[in-house]
Amino acid sequence: MDIRFLGHACFEISEGDTRVLIDPFLSGNPKAAVEAGEVEPTHVFLTHGHRDHWGDVVDIAKRTGAHCVAITELAGELSDNGVENVTDPNLGGTADFDGGWVRVVPAWHTSTTPSGRVNTPAGLVIGLGGKTIYHLGDTALFSDLRLPGERDSLDVALMCIGGHYTMDRHDAVKAAELVGARQVIPCHYDTFPAIETDAEAFKSEVSGSEVVILQPGETHSV
Ligand code: NI
Ligand code: MN
Repeated sequence: MDIRFLGHACFEISEGDTRVLIDPFLSGNPKAAVEAGEVEPTHVFLTHGHRDHWGDVVDIAKRTGAHCVAITELAGELSDNGVENVTDPNLGGTADFDGGWVRVVPAWHTSTTPSGRVNTPAGLVIGLGGKTIYHLGDTALFSDLRLPGERDSLDVALMCIGGHYTMDRHDAVKAAELVGARQVIPCHYDTFPAIETDAEAFKSEVSGSEVVILQPGETHSV
């Protein structure tokens, strides 16, 4: 399985013919590794509705016909925008897709879409090709971050560390300990001045997980 970091909180997870794009904020993202018109996902998953996650989801989903999965109200807004292939699990729910599954889990954050509709933010636990990936979404540190790893053996956690809008790198060190994934890929930092942080310092302070720092455009194979 390949995990490609496309900048901010956007990743593309690929296994065989399945390409899962998460939080496709590409247009207007100063760190985007690709343009919205260049991605060809088979699936698009959203953690929440903020502009820096919702991004280009509607355009990409309509162009590619990708199967979209998002928490119930967010999925409803995708449908209202004319996206046809949408699955709408709520917190605790699991949606199956070709070759895998995705479970919606809590995240402590807020969420409003660019249109102004308020909804509930989430994290996503994704099973694909025998691997399990946990995208924490935007979240503060909270103790239940340990629960996904108590159900599934986590191979990789995609973890916000930038502070201001999410937990900072210091809380993320504790989060990495709670999550307990074999590897942690930090994200949601250095995109804007407010979330600049020292990813190498985060890496040096985490023990128990291997921290893999990716530059936008880089791919990590699991
Ligand atoms: Ni957010
Ligand atoms: Mn965000």
